[in-house]
Amino acid sequence: MLAKYKKYVIANWKMTLSNQESIALAKEILAGFKRSDEVELVLCPTATALSAVGRVVQGSSVKLGAQNIFYHATGAYTGQISPANVAEAGAEYSIIGHSESRKFGESDDDVNRKVLAALNHNLIPIVCVGETFEEYNQRKTDVVIIKQVTRALEDIKLKAGQKIILAYEPVWVIGSGQAVNHSIVEHIVRIIVHTATELDPGLADKFDVIYGGSVDENNVNDFIIGSLSKGVIVGNKSLEAKSLIGLIGNIN
Ligand code: PGA
Repeated sequence: MLAKYKKYVIANWKMTLSNQESIALAKEILAGFKRSDEVELVLCPTATALSAVGRVVQGSSVKLGAQNIFYHATGAYTGQISPANVAEAGAEYSIIGHSESRKFGESDDDVNRKVLAALNHNLIPIVCVGETFEEYNQRKTDVVIIKQVTRALEDIKLKAGQKIILAYEPVWVIGSGQAVNHSIVEHIVRIIVHTATELDPGLADKFDVIYGGSVDENNVNDFIIGSLSKGVIVGNKSLEAKSLIGLIGNIN
């Protein structure tokens, strides 16, 4: 049976591959990807490989995403990544506010401006929110998530056809090989939905929530929860075509 909506699989390659390796991996994934009716597969290579991977996936059902963007499109911003250039390379998505970017000084305010910039350049923002281990232990997860979602979406008005993806990524789980219990994910996803909808009831049918953090082919279905959580961000397990295609193949 066909799914009512596509499930997202966002492959976050981080800064782990050379440009040539990114091209080769994209080609291998493209050759093995068979579920385009049910799965929206987005490859997010490192910025230097965006154009080349964009050429590989061009005309296919596989989509391209950036791992980050800056909030201005042009100007004297040495070293930043223009959302306009990212779109020009063929990207339709951009990860924003990943904990590995927040760690290097990206603030909630930056995240908010980047969400706006993404939308202005027809990029679908994949906004990551998540608590640290310390915050988790102090039972502050709910508060942290509500704050991050509220700040990320502040004053954001979506035009017809635009959407946002909110990704719950517990910081301490990323790359650990040990995903959190799916009941925790379900609880947090409900908080994200509630927060975003409270903020602007008009947003209600314009955002999707997904989960990221040590997703693999055995646990992937724990995190795709009905219409609540509609997909996953995959880091480590997206770095080999075999494991990513296996994971996609296992999605119910
Ligand atoms: P992981 O990374 O799958 O390796 O935990 C996920 C992410 O950082 O988005």
